[in-house]
Amino acid sequence: MPEFSPYLSPAGDRHFDGLADKFAGSLYGGLRGELRLALLDRLLPEMLDLQGQPVLEVGGGLGQLAAWLSDRGHPVTLTEPAGEMLERAAEHLGDRPVVRHRLPLQSLPAALPGPWPLVTCHAVLEWLADPRAALATLAGLLTPGGQLSLMVFNRDALRLSNVVKGNLAKALDDRLEGQGRRRRLTPISPLTHGQVVAWAEEAGLCVAQVAGVRVFHDYLRTPPEAAADRQALLELEWRYSRVDPHWRLGRYLLYTLIRPEEPAS
Ligand SMILES: C[S@@+](CC[C@H](N)C(=O)[O-])C[C@H]1O[C@@H](n2cnc3c(N)ncnc32)[C@H](O)[C@@H]1O
Repeated sequence: MPEFSPYLSPAGDRHFDGLADKFAGSLYGGLRGELRLALLDRLLPEMLDLQGQPVLEVGGGLGQLAAWLSDRGHPVTLTEPAGEMLERAAEHLGDRPVVRHRLPLQSLPAALPGPWPLVTCHAVLEWLADPRAALATLAGLLTPGGQLSLMVFNRDALRLSNVVKGNLAKALDDRLEGQGRRRRLTPISPLTHGQVVAWAEEAGLCVAQVAGVRVFHDYLRTPPEAAADRQALLELEWRYSRVDPHWRLGRYLLYTLIRPEEPAS
């Protein structure tokens, strides 16, 4: 749990007010973001059963996933607690018919209980003080048989990238998480695969699919610049995103979690 910081919400979460520009520039402005979006574009149709069902998008940020789902014919409801991010999402979404609400995840059972056949929550849990409770909340929003597309920042990948960058003392002390101070983009609650599996089970969800997003890029000494090399890296990322052991060191872990159907009475 990070120490008190004026940048955290009363619940201890890092809402992205004041971070929209930095997030848009440093995460989505370069190859990292390009790879993430290109990989999701290929992985999501394979990992989810997409039938144009209504979607609740949680912590929707700049609106890329909401736009992608809307373009595939899903009615999308985007929720996001940071006003600044919601404004950016509105710009990005243009005239797509996406309903938008300024709400944190914790308020969704009361405000938008559904139940929803599809809930998406990408790169949000690692910014929360209590990601375990958040996963239980997301599980409670699903219809029986409903799918949760969950993506989390991988703590094990963060350790490896720190070692690769020479941050040896930090890695040795296991001081990997951010403190939610200033405009830092190091998550306050990076997660391990073991935690996700255990917490999903606790919340009554089955782990149906898993992939690693960016299994190579974040460890490169010199990221490729030429278009052909960037394309080759994308093909490698794609080829190994679901292959053991590579997926385990993806910067993000992407899951399809399913709420089982209730047994017929
Ligand atoms: C790293 S961004 C991810 C945005 C988007 N989902 C994506 O994948 O690009 C994290 C987002 O989580 C939001 N967030 C922080 N605390 C939250 C909470 N309690 N409930 C819902 N979203 C939250 C932040 O405001 C921010 O927009």
